[in-house]
Amino acid sequence: MRIEPAEPAFDGDGTPFSRAYGDVYHSADSGPGQARHVFLGGNDLPARWARARLFTIFETGFGLGLNFLATWHAWLADPARPERLHFFSIEKHPFGRDSLKTLHERYAEFAPLARQLQDAWPPLVSGLHRLHFEDGRVTLTLALADVVDLAPRLQFQADAIYLDGFAPQRNAEMWSPQLMKRLARLARPGTTVATYSASGAVREALESAGFGIEKRPGFGRKRDMLRGTFAPRWSPRRAARAAAACAERHAIVIGASLAGAAVCERLAARGWRIDLIERRPAPAAQARPLYAGVFHPHVSRDDCILSRVARCGFLYAPPRWRALERAGQRLAWSRCGVLQLAGTPGDEQRMAGAVSLAGYPPDYAQYLARDEAETHSGCRLPAGGWWFPGGGWMRPASLVAAQLAAAGGRAGPMFTTHFGAAVNAISRAGDSWQAVSADGSVIAAAPVLVLANSGDMTRLAPVAQPLANVRGQVSYLPAGAVAAPRVVLSGNGYLLPAFEGIVVTGSTYDFGSDDPEPRTEGHAANLARLSRMLAEAAALPDPAGLDGAVGFRCMAPDHMPLVGAVPDVAAAREQQVGLSGAQLPDLPRRPGLYCASGYGSRGLVWAALAGELLASLIEGEPPPLEADLADALDPGRFTLRQARRAKL
Ligand SMILES: Cc1cc2nc3c(=O)[nH]c(=O)nc-3n(C[C@H](O)[C@H](O)[C@H](O)COP(=O)(O)OP(=O)(O)OC[C@H]3O[C@@H](n4cnc5c(N)ncnc54)[C@H](O)[C@@H]3O)c2cc1C
Ligand SMILES: C[S@@+](CC[C@H](N)C(=O)[O-])C[C@H]1O[C@@H](n2cnc3c(N)ncnc32)[C@H](O)[C@@H]1O
Repeated sequence: MRIEPAEPAFDGDGTPFSRAYGDVYHSADSGPGQARHVFLGGNDLPARWARARLFTIFETGFGLGLNFLATWHAWLADPARPERLHFFSIEKHPFGRDSLKTLHERYAEFAPLARQLQDAWPPLVSGLHRLHFEDGRVTLTLALADVVDLAPRLQFQADAIYLDGFAPQRNAEMWSPQLMKRLARLARPGTTVATYSASGAVREALESAGFGIEKRPGFGRKRDMLRGTFAPRWSPRRAARAAAACAERHAIVIGASLAGAAVCERLAARGWRIDLIERRPAPAAQARPLYAGVFHPHVSRDDCILSRVARCGFLYAPPRWRALERAGQRLAWSRCGVLQLAGTPGDEQRMAGAVSLAGYPPDYAQYLARDEAETHSGCRLPAGGWWFPGGGWMRPASLVAAQLAAAGGRAGPMFTTHFGAAVNAISRAGDSWQAVSADGSVIAAAPVLVLANSGDMTRLAPVAQPLANVRGQVSYLPAGAVAAPRVVLSGNGYLLPAFEGIVVTGSTYDFGSDDPEPRTEGHAANLARLSRMLAEAAALPDPAGLDGAVGFRCMAPDHMPLVGAVPDVAAAREQQVGLSGAQLPDLPRRPGLYCASGYGSRGLVWAALAGELLASLIEGEPPPLEADLADALDPGRFTLRQARRAKL
C-alpha cells in the first residue's frame, strides 16, 4: 500500500485538524487530558494492569501518538506497572517525523518521551514497525496500514482497546459493525474497550461484536463516552496462538551464528535462562567467518511476500544494532547505502517503475539514473539502479559477538554457553527437551528448545521438506587492487567499500558442492561479476593469489526462512485425513520446539526480526509481522501443504 502522509493543520481553536477528514485529532479541551480520561480511564488503567507480566493495548488511529505517550507516561509513573507494556496501533495517514516534531511541541508534559518517539520514527512505508523503548519494556508496534485491510491479518490478544478514529460520520469505515467484529477477535473475555464517541451506531456495533457497553461522562465539553468489557454470549471461535506453556523460562538454543545469537539476545531481553550449544569452539557466522555481508531491502512491482517481510526485517535490524552499540557493544558495520544496479536497459525502466509505483519515500528506496548513481558511489558504472540509503554492510562475526555479550550481560549466570559441543539428537523427557551428544550424554535440558543450526536442523527435527545447502564463496581483494566504491554495489553479486585494507566481493552459488575451501575458479567467477558492476574495471588481480571464505546457505524452496513452532510431522501424517481443509493453527506441533533457520542469502535482514518473532510467539506477545507474513515463515507450511494433499 502506498502511504499518503498527513499534513499538519489546525482548526480555529488551534487544535490539530485533518483537512482530509474534516475533523480534529483530539478534544479542543486537551489532547493529553482526553487520552487520560477517555482511553486510560475508560479501560480502568492503570488499575487493571497492576503487576501484570505483559499488558497489551490495541489502538485504531495513532495520529499524533498522544494516547501512546499518555499511556507510556502513566506506565512510568506507576509503581505497580506491568513488567512489559505492548502498544499496538494502526495508522493509515502517518505524519512525517518533522511534522510530528512540530506538533509534539504543543504537549510539553510528554517532551522527553515524544523526543524518543520522534528519534525512533520509521520511514513511511507500509507494514508493521516495531519500536522498543525503556530497554524493551515498552514496545510500540506501529502498523502503517488501513485498519480495514489489516484487521483480518492480526493475530494476538489485547487486554485493552482504544477506538480513536475520527468521528463516525466523517470516518465511517473505522467504526463499521464488520470492523468491530474483526477487532473483537483480538479480545478475550475481560478485555476492555473505550472510545470518546457516544454514538448509538458505535454502541450497537460493539454490542453485537460481544462487548457489554456502558455510557460514562465524556471529557471536557463532551457529555458522554462509551466503555465496555468483552463478554460474548458465545464461545469465541479461535484464540490467537497461545504462549508456550512452560513452567520455567528456560531455553536451549542450538547454533551460535546469526540466527542463534539474535534469538538468545531477544529471549535474554525477556528474562530467559539460556543454554547455547555450538559445535564449533567459538561463535562464528560461517566455517571461515564471512568478513562482511550486505543488507538491503527487496523491491518488487507486486510488493510480494518476500518484499514485505524483507522490508520489516531491514527496518527492524539497524535500530537493534544501534541499541547494542548504545549498550557498549562494538559492531563493525556501516550504513553507507546500497546501490542495486540494473543489469540491462530494460531493467532500468522496470526498476524505476517499481519504485514509483510503490511510492516509497526517498529515505527507503529511490531510483537513480546512471550519472546520479556514479556521484553517490564515486565509480564509473554501467547502469543506474535502486538506491537504498539505509542499507550497508555488516561483519556478521561482530554482530554475533555483540548479541551474545548482550545476552550474557542481561542473563548473567542464567546464560550458559557450550562451545565445541555438537548436538547429535534431541529428545523429549517429560516436560523438557534434551540436547544429546554423540556419546549419549545430555548437554542441556530445558522446556523450550530452539533449533538455529541452519542446514543441520531438519536432521534433528524434520519439517517434511529437505532444505538445500548452497555453497558460496566470497573473495577478498587488497584495497589497492580495485577502485572500491564509497557505497555497496550490488546486482549480480556485490562489491563493498574498502574496510581495514580489504575489499570484499562475491559471491558464488555452487549448487551440489560441499567443498569447504575457497577455489580459484570461485575467485575468477567473483572477479568476472565485479567487472560487470564497474564500467571501468582496472586490471584485476590474479584469482590464484586471492584469499576468501566459503559458507553454506541453508534455503527452503520458497526462499523464505523457517521461524516458529516445529510441526509434528508424524502426528500430522496420522491425522492426514482430517487435515484436508486445515490451516496452520490446526497443525499438530511438537510442544516447546521452535526453529529459526533457512536464512539463505539474507541472514542479516532476517536474523533480528526472526529473533523477535520467535520470542513473541514463545511469549504469546503480538508478533512483529502480519499473520499472512508470519504464516509464510511458519516451519509447518510444508507439512500442511502435503497433509492437505494427503501426500505426507
Ligand atoms: C558466500 C556467502 C555470502 C553471503 N553473503 C551474505 C550477505 O551479503 N548478506 C547476508 O545477509 N547474508 C549473506 N550470506 C548468508 C548468511 O551467511 C546466512 O544467511 C547466515 O549465516 C545464516 O545464519 P544461521 O545462523 O542460520 O546459520 P549458520 O551461519 O550456518 O550457523 C549455524 C550454526 O549452527 C552450528 N551447528 C550446526 N549444527 C549443529 C549441531 N548439531 N550442534 C551444534 N551446533 C551446530 C554451526 O556450527 C553454525 O555455527 C552469505 C552466505 C554465504 C555462504
Ligand atoms: C482522532 S485521530 C487519532 C488520534 C490519536 N489516537 C492520538 O493519540 O493522537 C484518528 C486517526 O485515525 C487515522 N485513520 C483514519 N482512517 C483510518 C483507517 N482506515 N485506518 C487507519 N487509520 C485511520 C487518521 O489518519 C488519524 O490519524
